[in-house]
Amino acid sequence: MSSAPVPRLRPRRLRESPALRRLVSETRLDPADLVLPIFVREGVDEAVPIPSMPGVVQHSLESVKGAVTDAAAAGVGGVMLFGVPEVRDDVGSAATDPDGILNVATRVVADEVGDALVVQTDLCLDEFTDHGHCGVLDPLGRVDNDATLERYREMALVQAASGSQLLGLSGMMDGQVAAVRDALDGSGLTHTAILAYSAKYASAFYGPFRDAVESTLEGDRRTYQLDPGNRREGLREAIIDIDEGADIVMVKPAGSYLDVLSDVAAASDVPVWAYQVSGEYAMIEAAAMHGWIDRRRAVIESIRGIKRAGADAVLTYWATELARWIREGAE
Ligand code: PBG
Repeated sequence: MSSAPVPRLRPRRLRESPALRRLVSETRLDPADLVLPIFVREGVDEAVPIPSMPGVVQHSLESVKGAVTDAAAAGVGGVMLFGVPEVRDDVGSAATDPDGILNVATRVVADEVGDALVVQTDLCLDEFTDHGHCGVLDPLGRVDNDATLERYREMALVQAASGSQLLGLSGMMDGQVAAVRDALDGSGLTHTAILAYSAKYASAFYGPFRDAVESTLEGDRRTYQLDPGNRREGLREAIIDIDEGADIVMVKPAGSYLDVLSDVAAASDVPVWAYQVSGEYAMIEAAAMHGWIDRRRAVIESIRGIKRAGADAVLTYWATELARWIREGAE
């Protein structure tokens, strides 16, 4: 009777104890690599819960102060601000109004925590247009790329003047990085950095976000956001943005696009970030509420996977909570 050969190679050896596993871990989570997206709504006195994102709120100009102070205290690396205006129009006027909600919120947040973390702003028109698209429309109702670039240039100057240190270009217009860089440099704002949402896919996982910003969009964004099936094109977009002067490039959503993230990380000579979007958040929260999943372990695993695929930093709605867990040593 022959017995099975004794294994010569035993990878299990390094999994023997928690201390050993910790020592050989390839991917570590650090609060400094986390960015918290934050919604600020015009005309409210207190925070308003977002039903499709349990635990996330639309902040008032007052309540946002506590949220960013908490994030800074937990060691979070940055916050990304989104505005929810009371009034919208066809060109998104509130976006370039220094007294528009996003710009006011930016001043408040920069004042509160501008030295402790990086204050970032969403540079896109969708929250401000009455039709809900990320740009202005031409007479036929199509999103007009080059006319939109003019609006983005104006937005960049107002956001930088309001105290944004890193502009998040999320509109997916061709040439947006070059246009914004040119506008900033032309106004002496050479130090204001650009985060390009380079490979942003037309995703169903933005669903809860559209509730969060009370989006008026009818239809979809498929004429400007990437087709979910296209991997090579995601890399191409990132390379174009780096060429146009992006300081950081991003892949979004994160969890369903880890291959694109890995490709971009391998090719990029600037930092690569990923955005774990609202739908990714909502799915784990919903499953956890049913008791179908261990919330904390699922959150940590989802973000660890994104980092393992190549993200240097991750935008996640769990940023502050996760930062606290990491500090407690609970990785
Ligand atoms: C556009 C923008 C979107 C998100 C971030 N920036 C929405 C969209 O493209 O429809 C989605 C973020 C999320 O789902 O968490 N301003």
